[in-house]
Amino acid sequence: MSLELSLEAFLALSDAEKAPLVEGRAALFAQQFDRPFLDRIQRVADAARLTRSTPGGAAFLAGLLPHRTVLNFFVQPSSRTFLSFNGAEAILGMPRIDMRDVSTSSIAKGESIEDTIHTFTAYVDLVVMRHPDADAASVATWVCHEASRRLSRPDGQRIPVPVISGGSGAEQHPTQALLDVYTLQRQLALVGGLDGKCLLLVGDLARGRTVRSLALLAHHFPGLSLRFASPERYAMRQDILDHLDAHGVPWGVSDSLDDALVGADAVYMTRVQDEHDADHVEGEHPPVDPRFRFELRHLKRLKSHAPLLHPLPKRDEIDPAVDRCGDPRVAYWSQERNGLWARVALIADLFGVSDAILERHG
Ligand code: CP
Repeated sequence: MSLELSLEAFLALSDAEKAPLVEGRAALFAQQFDRPFLDRIQRVADAARLTRSTPGGAAFLAGLLPHRTVLNFFVQPSSRTFLSFNGAEAILGMPRIDMRDVSTSSIAKGESIEDTIHTFTAYVDLVVMRHPDADAASVATWVCHEASRRLSRPDGQRIPVPVISGGSGAEQHPTQALLDVYTLQRQLALVGGLDGKCLLLVGDLARGRTVRSLALLAHHFPGLSLRFASPERYAMRQDILDHLDAHGVPWGVSDSLDDALVGADAVYMTRVQDEHDADHVEGEHPPVDPRFRFELRHLKRLKSHAPLLHPLPKRDEIDPAVDRCGDPRVAYWSQERNGLWARVALIADLFGVSDAILERHG
């Protein structure tokens, strides 16, 4: 695929139009992932998890990418995405550089995002980034492509430095969608996985980039239907609803968690993303609408196989008593752990070493 477009022309495309153009050199949009890829990530993640459980397996994984340096460029707050990428890179033996505080970089001197990314390509072989600007990861991918035409790397390679988005504005969080599908498939394995199930998404669906990316993958699972439960102002945006309609995914809307819960095979809670509010005050958060707060009484009404997910961080949208109840359906802590293995699988796949992991433990 070709990126022979001006930056302006590239950015003017929709995510779905950009997706095939960045294939193999970036992971920016859920639209890049098809069912064979999702299944492959699951298999590689499972194999890496098993392989890492012995010293010999850990040494094998750490020997796969010691010659590839990665920059974790996270200029928006993150705990688990940042840490799980760091952990995944360590498992694969990659030397790592972190940049989180732009005040210590030349961005503070007014350097453009284009020049900043171009500079990264002189030093590293992979950029993982989280940025408040929804276009920043696309800009980075385009710049890395341009830079590869000019820069002669020490190893003689001229392939573009790949870019992985760890969250872009309020639009997409593609690697979270990978780990969410991985978690749902594992949690629902005894009842046939996600195919034919009903997934309930709750909370701030308008600005929750995790649920937006996850919804974009629904059509890969035959028979899967989506249900949305949110205050009206946080309703799922029309672009996602149009995507679901175009792909024949049934969906419905509910204005309370109590009603929406009936028939759900999995529940995915989200917090209000109030950092996007114009009047947001650092450290102050509005209380959750009680109609969309998950409590123990909801767990009692949930199907016996139905997991409760949350991308985390959470605030008051889940009663802390749910954390403490010990019910195996409370899956968000294993969900965040799954992120480590899904990201090992993604990076391994991007660098062509996932087959080696499968061959050892597939
Ligand atoms: N789920 C997620 O993206 O968490 P962090 O913001 O902590 O990375």
